[in-house]
Amino acid sequence: MKYSPRAAFKLQGNQVGFSFSKRDLMVQFVSLRQRILSAVQKNATRGDPRSVIRAIDQFCSQKEWAMNVGNEKGCILDSVVSEVNPATVLELGTYCGYSTVRIASLLPPYAKFITLEFNPDFAAVARQVIAWAGLEDKVQLVEGASSDWIPKIKEQFGIKTFDLVFLDHWKEHYLSDTKLMEECGLLRKGSVLLADNVICPGAPDYVEYVRSSPRYKSHYFRSHLEYTKAEENLWYLGIIE
Ligand SMILES: C[S@@+](CC[C@H](N)C(=O)[O-])C[C@H]1O[C@@H](n2cnc3c(N)ncnc32)[C@H](O)[C@@H]1O
Repeated sequence: MKYSPRAAFKLQGNQVGFSFSKRDLMVQFVSLRQRILSAVQKNATRGDPRSVIRAIDQFCSQKEWAMNVGNEKGCILDSVVSEVNPATVLELGTYCGYSTVRIASLLPPYAKFITLEFNPDFAAVARQVIAWAGLEDKVQLVEGASSDWIPKIKEQFGIKTFDLVFLDHWKEHYLSDTKLMEECGLLRKGSVLLADNVICPGAPDYVEYVRSSPRYKSHYFRSHLEYTKAEENLWYLGIIE
């Protein structure tokens, strides 16, 4: 079912040359993120976060793969959010807002939740997905790079420390951003960090750092890469001192 650019070219019988069907042209010029948004608008109920999650999972497992955390790891994320019951949450990497919706739907009304996304096109779609789920009042979507925003979070958002951080942006930033959060005093004893994709595409320097640091108690949940059977883990890091 995956879209292939080659399939957009159709040789018509003995005609010399190529022609496009109307749908092929539409598929070519509408981005994946917009197709995800359309799937939400078509199949999810406004104000019902779980139906938004279902619509995205259905689209990405049956039609086109996308880099949302997905349902299998998403269920682990849900259980960590419920267990930690955080009053302050930071998500690094919003994309289309899939995990943002999962997290926000489980937070108590007083919680502060910031999600960072540096791609303005992704952020624009995420805003609409979050609004479709009826969660716009529970999430602060901030546009910009994590390394620029982390040092400003305390001052700009009046947050002292985070109870939970979900790391799901580009993997080469996991280590530097964790160190930056430490330096900025955003992590405290008892803070929990959940990190996706440490195996695929992988963040070996990050794994080495948290495994060798006496500050972190780490374990991982065995899982699979979103919408595939490839092995993947979700790393759970508790700060113990
Ligand atoms: C894997 S996707 C996030 C998926 C999302 N958490 C979900 O499960 O629905 C990673 C996202 O992080 C964003 N990103 C990568 N590096 C970033 C950075 N340094 N600061 C902010 N956003 C970043 C990318 O643009 C991309 O949208």
